[in-house]
Amino acid sequence: MRLAILGCGTVGSEVVRLLHEQSADLAARIGAPLEIAGIAVRRLGRDRGNLPVAPELFTTDALGLIKRDDVDVVVEVVGGIEPARSWLVDALRAGKSVVTANKALLAEDGAALHDAAADGGADLYYEAAVAGAIPLLRPLRESLHGDRINRVTGIVNGTTNFILSAMDATGAGFAEALEEATELGYAEADPTADVEGFDAAAKAAILASLAFHTRVGAADVYREGITEVTAADVASAKAMGCTIKLLCIAARGADATGRESVSVRVHPAMIPLGHPLASVGDAYNAVFVEAEAAGPLMFYGRGAGGAATASAVLGDVVAVGRNRLAGVRAPSESAYADLAVRPMGEALTRYHVSLDVADKPGVLAAVAGVFARHDVSIATVRQAPAGTESAGRGADAVLVIVTHTAPDAALAATVEDLRGLDAVRSIASVLRVEGGE
Ligand code: NDP
Ligand code: HSE
Repeated sequence: MRLAILGCGTVGSEVVRLLHEQSADLAARIGAPLEIAGIAVRRLGRDRGNLPVAPELFTTDALGLIKRDDVDVVVEVVGGIEPARSWLVDALRAGKSVVTANKALLAEDGAALHDAAADGGADLYYEAAVAGAIPLLRPLRESLHGDRINRVTGIVNGTTNFILSAMDATGAGFAEALEEATELGYAEADPTADVEGFDAAAKAAILASLAFHTRVGAADVYREGITEVTAADVASAKAMGCTIKLLCIAARGADATGRESVSVRVHPAMIPLGHPLASVGDAYNAVFVEAEAAGPLMFYGRGAGGAATASAVLGDVVAVGRNRLAGVRAPSESAYADLAVRPMGEALTRYHVSLDVADKPGVLAAVAGVFARHDVSIATVRQAPAGTESAGRGADAVLVIVTHTAPDAALAATVEDLRGLDAVRSIASVLRVEGGE
């Protein structure tokens, strides 16, 4: 079984190392030895430490390597949309199976890859694309195919989980926690994809596609990052017995006309400390799946890192290798349900709103009236007098309101109207709340 490895960076170098270290076991598990036919990189002269491969295997001609007759399987760990898409479509159409960790490409144009795999009769595996080392996609795409998944809630970005965990532990602000994450090597030099939620949104699209047998792309996912989360938000969450996490949530439900549909979103949210995801700290990932017959299932582990991600890549290589030897294909894409994706405004959620208000008669009634006008039911109200630690500067009082579940559009409109209320001096914090209702 001859492999073309595209990319030899954080993940690729560990794939190469593990292929070497475990070659005998991998051969025994597949039933044939694995050999590296070539490794495509961008810079031939880059120092790659003492990788256990012959230097002649490296090339900058990825396409030439893929097209070679002696290549059976293509492992793509380069990332990005192009040229990765063209390479993988070519490989799949030519009948070469593909293992990729490229969540950005799968979320942007997974359809092109799945269609090419079907055309070429080849396998497309991508376990490493979501939550790194955690075996998650195989359970969704195979083990749970006898069940009906209603909801997937996950922490799927390690960098932001590290930052939010640090903010929670130390009371630091976002900028300070990001600096620490960068110093420790968790955050990349350009952390935009992580902190703005693009990485988690790509993973959310992949999870939703598998869970609901529907093609969901990155553009279908509502996305908010964590850059606006403040130390005051974190303190507010603590006061409520909650913590803040960047969640990806994919849920089945009905649209405005009652038709079955899905909503897929990524945003920071308060979750109660008793929620299964609340104790997921540091840069760990975890995904909570709610299935009709199986009930709740929790997947936990390392979502990033060279060796952890390479473990998932090699698991796919073994699966692809076995299939090829047996002359069979993995189950192809399952998108038969073709459910509509609901806009964020129709997603059902709850809000936590913290207001700096004048402490005088009629204020609570005026505030409650705005909620009532938008048909949003209030679950709890807490008032802290001015001068207490949680009260905003210059405020007579701080009102903390948590709602019952309502459509996001109604909740957002409520907050907008509260801004215009004379009694409301400022809105100190608005956060969605998940779990606990
Ligand atoms: P790196 O940036 O560390 O490595 C990218 C590799 O691709 C490098 O070896 C680079 O070559 C090579 N490369 C870039 N452009 C080209 C090109 N045009 N032709 C040939 N080779 C090229 O990325 P990672 O290893 O971190 O990530 C790889 C993939 O894995 C991405 O899709 C990422 O999203 C995914 N992933 C990564 C995780 C992680 O923890 N890092 C976790 C889960 C998924 P050179 O070495 O010469 O620069
Ligand atoms: N940047 C990603 C993270 C890497 O922080 O989780 C894994 O996809």
